[in-house]
Amino acid sequence: MKPVILVMGNYLQPTEMQALEDNFETVHLWKEKDPESLLQERKSDIQGIASVHSVPVSRTLIEALPNLEIISQFAVGYDNIDLAAAKERGIAVTNTPDVLTDDTADTGMALLLAVSRRVCEGDMYVRVGKWLNGNMPLGWSPKGKVAGIVGMGRIGQSVARKCEAFGMKIMYQGPRKKDGIPYDYVADVKALAEISDYLILTCPGGAGTRHMVNAEVLEALGPTGFLINIARGSVVDEQALIKALQDKVILGAGLDVYQDEPRVPEELVKMDNVVLLPHVGSATHETRAAMGQLVVKNLLAHFHGDPLLTPVR
Ligand code: GLV
Repeated sequence: MKPVILVMGNYLQPTEMQALEDNFETVHLWKEKDPESLLQERKSDIQGIASVHSVPVSRTLIEALPNLEIISQFAVGYDNIDLAAAKERGIAVTNTPDVLTDDTADTGMALLLAVSRRVCEGDMYVRVGKWLNGNMPLGWSPKGKVAGIVGMGRIGQSVARKCEAFGMKIMYQGPRKKDGIPYDYVADVKALAEISDYLILTCPGGAGTRHMVNAEVLEALGPTGFLINIARGSVVDEQALIKALQDKVILGAGLDVYQDEPRVPEELVKMDNVVLLPHVGSATHETRAAMGQLVVKNLLAHFHGDPLLTPVR
């Protein structure tokens, strides 16, 4: 009999979904009109969860599944999963690091360049025929500016290398100074914001970083500063960000993530000095396929009794 896997969302591409279905019996929670009664019906059968960052895997869900052995997450971040609840039950948790590093960092660079060089405004300028009446306002050059990177993990390091290629100076903040990182470390996020032209968030979400970027930090970033967020919406106090943008406390922002996705505050939508993406950090054909393969491979490894490829520790 194939192990039963609870699939939390519609994110696997057809090839990877097929691989999942070839090897497991799947229960698609997201397709159900009444997911609660499906869960009740199948709760003792479910041995694995194929999860995604946008759907919570709560303590309640974990505790409702007596035979759950593994949660295989389609994302590098796992702040949607109650890790403590999983750990208490000895349930394995895996994620999809490395394969998405460069595409996610590229998304950060796309936002940085788009907001600095007014790419979206420029596109609209051409489309609505404003160019016929004159040149559009100037942008800002990243060259020679300070990129303050919050979180010097894999994605932070990739962003740093790309910023270097654009002639930027790199500084970083994180829980600790990291060995082998050739950039200056600043322990405090506000102090980093103070010396940064671009504050670039690449850190994990969750309780430890919630609202780390608040009104005070934005004030420190200042009226020539940009905020780039490819981490989690929860890292930023969104109301404080809206106010800072409205009051020109900072110059602009490039955002891929929000507090209450997929809902984006109307105030942000109306602003010219922000570029908004719909949480697409890793959203390329190549990377999403690689992530899906990893989700399936981790499940297969677990049920074959092999070492997990990418366990969350
Ligand atoms: C996406 O947000 C991820 O964590 O991979």
